[in-house]
Amino acid sequence: MCGIIGTIGFPDAADALLQGLRRLEYRGYDSAGIAVRDDSGFAVRRAVGKLNALANVLNDAPLHGTTGIGHTRWATHGGVNMANAHPIMSGDRVAVVHNGIIENHRILRQALSAKGYTFHSQTDTEVLAHLFADAVDQTTTLMEATETVIAQIEGAYAFAVMVADYPDHLAIARQASPLAIGISDAAVFVGSDAIAMGDVTQRVMFLKDGDYGTISKQDIVIKDASAQLANRDITIVAASPGLVTKEGYQHFMEKEIHEQPDTVMRTLGAFSKTDGADGTDGADGAFALPDGFDFSNMTGLAYLAAGTSYNAGLIGRYWMEQLADLPVVTESASEFRYRQPSTRHISLAMGISQSGESLDTLMALRYMADKGVDTAALVNVDSSTMARESGGYLLTRAGPEIGVASTKSYMAQLTVLLIMATIAGHQRGVLSDARRAEIEQMLASVPRLIGAAMASAATIKAIVPRLAQAKSCLYLGRGTLYPLAMEGALKLKELSYIHAEAYASGEMKHGPIALIEDGLPVVALLANDEHLSKSISNVVEAKARGADVIIIATESAAKLAMDEIEGLDGHVATVPDCDALIAPLILSLPIQFLAYLTAVHKGTDVDQPRNLAKSVTVE
Ligand code: M6R
Repeated sequence: MCGIIGTIGFPDAADALLQGLRRLEYRGYDSAGIAVRDDSGFAVRRAVGKLNALANVLNDAPLHGTTGIGHTRWATHGGVNMANAHPIMSGDRVAVVHNGIIENHRILRQALSAKGYTFHSQTDTEVLAHLFADAVDQTTTLMEATETVIAQIEGAYAFAVMVADYPDHLAIARQASPLAIGISDAAVFVGSDAIAMGDVTQRVMFLKDGDYGTISKQDIVIKDASAQLANRDITIVAASPGLVTKEGYQHFMEKEIHEQPDTVMRTLGAFSKTDGADGTDGADGAFALPDGFDFSNMTGLAYLAAGTSYNAGLIGRYWMEQLADLPVVTESASEFRYRQPSTRHISLAMGISQSGESLDTLMALRYMADKGVDTAALVNVDSSTMARESGGYLLTRAGPEIGVASTKSYMAQLTVLLIMATIAGHQRGVLSDARRAEIEQMLASVPRLIGAAMASAATIKAIVPRLAQAKSCLYLGRGTLYPLAMEGALKLKELSYIHAEAYASGEMKHGPIALIEDGLPVVALLANDEHLSKSISNVVEAKARGADVIIIATESAAKLAMDEIEGLDGHVATVPDCDALIAPLILSLPIQFLAYLTAVHKGTDVDQPRNLAKSVTVE
């Protein structure tokens, strides 16, 4: 999703902006650009494609100045080309970088065209540039001009604007899309998040929805949605790690898959009492949740999320209902708030989100807060909007995830969801001390089992050349392995561009079985659970109709399947045996390898698949 960076007063603005854009790369983008004010006005450099292309342009034609704005663009309105890359200009008077969608841009475009403004791009952002040019003529301060513009636009936006008439200032605003101000001794910055400014400052002021204002080296003036002057606290954010590198792996995704034992260990550690976590618990378990997470008297829980986080929430639902007898709805955030859901029985709405910024999830949480429901967030970024806006939050310890396809953050989400269900089960009197201790021991074994499951990559590698030829593919699972199948299908789709659908194994006979024909790959997930014999029967049914069956299973479940089904040699990837409760965590490894290695085999862009963004901040 688009990323914004800006600075006033930095000795080499272009360099700071480029570094900031590199830090925003994780959000996903397809073009980038920088505008710097120099002695003769605004100088702009843009490039389609990766930041190295922009860096080359800057090498050939350097920019000199101390004030500037930069942008990584993830195309929404208008194709991926130089004309649509930001900064977007209004003549030589205004330069704009924007993240979001101006929903009434068509009508504004008509009005501005009628006034004589010429449009050079297909972007919705260009109306912002011309609106500023127009407003500056009708007003006497940059603040007034900003207010004039904001009064005319509808939609989601975070923007930073340079206006030639106000050389020492930037105009900024946010509505639904994130924006923060960074303050260092040398300069002032604006960025989509604290990470963007991590190289230059840890002192960050997070803007609230509806905030707008002007910033200069001397002063930062912010007004809130009701046009009142607003004081926003300066937060000292955790030191941002340097630019994350691949550390010898071919792709970030490969590195992140291999980091997962450590991710789970760190996440377990953060909730472990011996490592200092203490809070809502009520008894002598190994793990605790922060104060305020008391499930004892809850009547219902809603997990709201998107994409991979949604798939994690589906597994979390099975766990919470099974271990804590607490009704859960797991909902696609993008649908939830628009279907007028009944919220009466819901005691807590929890947004699950790696970034903590997905607009759909954020809006669903706000909807619940408006309905008077308590909110919480399960996020990987503690300075994220969801963490800041929710009543409480739980932090996964996945560290920065650069690959657009979620792997380690999903694993960390599952870890916290299982800890939470276990503690809730104990709080609600469903789990005895002994059962709780048993599950906690299982949790402690997850990093080791995940480490051992890495070995499945070798078998998967041999399966991949066949799968890579397929146009379409099915994933099957029962119980928690059904949402894991959904995650497997999502990973394969987004990385290798092969159409993949997941079905609950038992649902096959109700329709999807009609799809099975000779050679159709069917990935079946099996574990040592109460569904095993039924799941194997479903595989038999698929195989009998010509499917090219790929089994991903725990060792003994795989053995049982191979005893019952002939011709599976070379079609089976296994992970160590484990309790059914933690099987989705361990079986995630071969699922991720299958998608990753297929993408590598096909030569797709693994870390930044086409059309995808890491953090989706538009609807
Ligand atoms: O940051 P979030 O967890 O809220 O992101 C949600 C989805 O956009 C994300 O999981 C997406 O589906 C990933 N590309 C999955 O690999």
